[in-house]
Amino acid sequence: MEINMQNLVEKAYAAKQYAYAPYSGFHVGAALLCGDGTIFTGCNIENAAYSPANCAERTAVFKAVSEGYRSFLAIAVAGSSGEYLAPCGVCRQVLMEFCDPDSFLVILAKNQTQYQSFRLGELFPHAFSKTDLV
Ligand code: THU
Repeated sequence: MEINMQNLVEKAYAAKQYAYAPYSGFHVGAALLCGDGTIFTGCNIENAAYSPANCAERTAVFKAVSEGYRSFLAIAVAGSSGEYLAPCGVCRQVLMEFCDPDSFLVILAKNQTQYQSFRLGELFPHAFSKTDLV
């Protein structure tokens, strides 16, 4: 399965329009590529109680897993700051549950045409994962 990073970035930006972020004003979109080519998008969803907020990346992962998908190749993340946007620690932990840290690509977008990619293991080294639960 070829990974079309530009397409994922565009889908992440498209998903950003649905962000519900009245408290931070920080709108984020994500697009998650599954092993079979299916793409799930997500946006951040905030809450008046603040802590229940869900990041765009986790929204995409939870949408996919709740529909039976567990094989993932890459995720693109797009924000509004004009800077490369990296997933928070909680989202990295959630990605680690389902994604191969040596191959899964995390694509950080700066704008619609500028982005950089990292392996999950680069962004989240020495992670705790299910392989530690022995
Ligand atoms: N946020 C994301 O959705 N993804 C990230 O990678 C960083 C942060 C959201 C959470 C919160 O709704 C807002 O951005 C500000 O932190």
